[in-house]
Amino acid sequence: MFNVLSELEKFRAEDIPYSRVLSSMCTTPLPIALKAHELFIETNLGDPGIFAGTWKLEQKLIKMLGELLHNPNAKGYICSGGTEANIQAIRAARNVIRRERKIDRPNIVVPESAHFSFEKIGDILGVEVRRAKLDEEFKVDVASVESLVDENTVGIAGIAGTTELGQIDPIDELSKLALQLGVPLHVDAAFGGFVIPFMNKPYPFDFELEGVTSITIDPHKMGMATIPAGGILFRDEKFLNALIVETPYLTSRYQYTLTGTRPGTGVASAYAVLKHLGYKGMKQIVDECMRMTALLVEEMTSLGFEPVIEPVMNVVCFKTEKAEKIKEELYRRRWVISTIKNPRAIRLVVMPHVTEEVVKGFISELKSVLRSV
Ligand SMILES: Cc1ncc(COP(=O)(O)O)c(C=O)c1O
Repeated sequence: MFNVLSELEKFRAEDIPYSRVLSSMCTTPLPIALKAHELFIETNLGDPGIFAGTWKLEQKLIKMLGELLHNPNAKGYICSGGTEANIQAIRAARNVIRRERKIDRPNIVVPESAHFSFEKIGDILGVEVRRAKLDEEFKVDVASVESLVDENTVGIAGIAGTTELGQIDPIDELSKLALQLGVPLHVDAAFGGFVIPFMNKPYPFDFELEGVTSITIDPHKMGMATIPAGGILFRDEKFLNALIVETPYLTSRYQYTLTGTRPGTGVASAYAVLKHLGYKGMKQIVDECMRMTALLVEEMTSLGFEPVIEPVMNVVCFKTEKAEKIKEELYRRRWVISTIKNPRAIRLVVMPHVTEEVVKGFISELKSVLRSV
């Protein structure tokens, strides 16, 4: 008899396990997240009257995330990921500003280091995306941001945990600038949102800074929830309300989400992880990721590599002209890393699945690769 499950298993076996992946910002979900996911597998938050319990849970989770980000009154929802969260943040900012004043051709100012989701935003929302320069530490240059802002600017953005280098922009300075110019400030903490609050050194990046209007924070990255689970939070409900459309045939009267049908699994799994680990447990995981990052730096330095910047969080890049070759050869051996172009470097993301054993295995494979490239 034809067995579809064994067919599925064959496809799945072709995937590379996370234990050989040092390029992704996603990771193996915690076991408690998987249990929660299963329990909510058929839920649809697009119809909250039917899934009233799931909807209540989402409100609780948003409050928890708000508390983590210094604003228990923040409003938002759990979405498909950082891309959707960023789209919605900029869409809301554009709509709010457009209501307040006449805008001919809206633009936003983002760091050169911003994630490629901002390219999509420009295209989808019809806003011009202006890229501000970075300083020598790869943080956005606030003077460059200021110089790009004009009367058509509907928002500026800062990144708390850049995709390539894990750098944190000077969000406090951007916040001051945003208040001074009267423009919304979106903070993309898709990755850093579940790292920075647990780090030993404080980096102000969230709603404690008065100018911060919205924050992207993704449970399916360092929040160890199941995919898909992104998060978008607004300081002020008027931004969420600026996204509303009517939903005549559903159990709700209106919707502020981008997608219609949307899973409750991300809500349940993210909630389960946070409740299960608590602040202390999350901190232990972040501490361990930082310890593994330091170990990687030590091992890589002894192989002659130099980091592009001293790692700020659990992402680290090492300069090499052979970056592409190394990446390709590792991939042939079923190890996955990524590269950056400026400067040419290999990029390693040290997620919770990157244990000491993984680091040792990776370094040993890399040594062999270096002999062949
Ligand atoms: C800083 C940042 N923002 C946004 C995103 C996009 O997130 P997603 O892939 O969940 O849409 C990423 C992805 O890595 C990211 O690093």
